[in-house]
Amino acid sequence: MAGSEPARTEVNRAVWDGWAAAAGTDAHYDAAALVAGTWRRTEVEQAAVELAVGDVAGRAVCHLQCHLGFDAIEFARSGAQTVGVDFSPVALARAAELAVRCGVTVDLVEADATALPATLHGRFDLVYATFGVLPWIDDVDSWMVSVASVLGSRGALALVEHHPVLSMVANLAAVTTGGARPVFGRPYQADGPVRRAGRAAAAEPGAGPVPVVYAHGLGRVVTAAVRAGLVVDHLVEHFDSPLDWRGEGLVADGDGRFRARVDGQLLPASFTLVARRPG
Ligand SMILES: C[S@@+](CC[C@H](N)C(=O)[O-])C[C@H]1O[C@@H](n2cnc3c(N)ncnc32)[C@H](O)[C@@H]1O
Repeated sequence: MAGSEPARTEVNRAVWDGWAAAAGTDAHYDAAALVAGTWRRTEVEQAAVELAVGDVAGRAVCHLQCHLGFDAIEFARSGAQTVGVDFSPVALARAAELAVRCGVTVDLVEADATALPATLHGRFDLVYATFGVLPWIDDVDSWMVSVASVLGSRGALALVEHHPVLSMVANLAAVTTGGARPVFGRPYQADGPVRRAGRAAAAEPGAGPVPVVYAHGLGRVVTAAVRAGLVVDHLVEHFDSPLDWRGEGLVADGDGRFRARVDGQLLPASFTLVARRPG
């Protein structure tokens, strides 16, 4: 896992180009549902949008690390002027094709999230970044400064992310389904790359370039937002998650949410941060 930051970014771009080429037909990224207009972002993501800006109609929205652009397309459908940003050209090409099939206009920009281009600066009412964005970022301070640079006055970041505590757990399926004791496969926070946990770690050897991922605790994330000049409106920890994000075959509770309990006590599963650029 050694290497300079640009080299690691290149590795991750190659990884994401490969994943983006294959994505779009699973339960979460269901392109047919998106085109049919029946795909919906998760409730916790929608709640973050409402906390940040309320209705997006007429707003300028940046979907950051947009992958196939599902949310960007939905924002455009809801009347927002939408830009999707990602560093993967393959993901952006897929997003462009989906936008055409959905009959909406989304501007797509290839850029590193930690260095968003000057053409985007000061433009957005909302930067929306959710589930699986920060694990790919080495320097969260730079990421937050970059996000702050593209927000307009009173514009807000809506960040929804997997909780760093749950990301530590290597045997998540056994913990969520069988009440097994957790095995911690990686630290809560680290400087530099960490091992991936769970099924994702097991799948690594021999399966193409090894993704380089990072672990950031909640304190680091919130402090980065404050250092970047943002004012924290909401920091909410959720004790469930709408996603089986490592694809481990987790069993959802009756309400469709995934929870991990240790000795009957819920572990934090995800969090929402809404932080605003002052007027
Ligand atoms: C787990 S996906 C995000 C999924 C997202 N919730 C969505 O809307 O579909 C992570 C995304 O981050 C992108 N990414 C990773 N590192 C990046 C970076 N340094 N700059 C820009 N995009 C990056 C990947 O290409 C990928 O599309």
